[in-house]
Amino acid sequence: MAKVEMPIYDGLNAYVGPMQQLMAVYQPKNILEIGLGHYGYSTNVWLSDSQAKLTTVDKGDWKGFAVRFKDAYPDRFTFIKGLTDKVLPKLKREYDFIYIDGDHAYEGCKADILNCQKLLLPGGIILLDDCDVNFPSAVNVDDNGNPTIDMFGVGQAVDECFGDWQRVFTEINFANGGRAYAKA
Ligand SMILES: C[S@@+](CC[C@H](N)C(=O)[O-])C[C@H]1O[C@@H](n2cnc3c(N)ncnc32)[C@H](O)[C@@H]1O
Repeated sequence: MAKVEMPIYDGLNAYVGPMQQLMAVYQPKNILEIGLGHYGYSTNVWLSDSQAKLTTVDKGDWKGFAVRFKDAYPDRFTFIKGLTDKVLPKLKREYDFIYIDGDHAYEGCKADILNCQKLLLPGGIILLDDCDVNFPSAVNVDDNGNPTIDMFGVGQAVDECFGDWQRVFTEINFANGGRAYAKA
């Protein structure tokens, strides 16, 4: 039962359903997430559908949801406000599940992937959203929290960075071509 209420939208179940499925079969202990977003839909899944500790990095807490999650899960949730290129290099290699859903443009996404690969424990998995989106779309936000139209480069970044990794949980139909990888 989620402790933080959030707006419902068309497509919410298609987005969070597969994440809940993943949590049912893969119970991580320590999660790192890039991208809280406006309402923290994925954040809510990691906290309410697992018992894991969660660290979420975002350049903003746009609508105050990081504060709400901290109130609801004080012992398990840490929010780090900052840009990933500054924050990620300071984190330790201690995560068994990493969700990357921050900058969707090619260069920023690739930098996040390469930084996150160094933070993953052996046997852990990295999940990325939007790998099959190849058109400009307003999923990201600028430094003031306003939606921005980006040309997505997630798929290209993933193809270049996970060549020697193994795709896992392919039976789960993650929204927008989401893909999970483990180090082969
Ligand atoms: C698509 S939203 C995340 C949605 C969220 N995972 C959910 O399920 O609701 C992307 C987020 O990444 C953040 N972001 C984008 N580029 C970033 C960067 N370089 N450093 C930190 N956060 C970034 C944005 O502020 C935005 O909140």
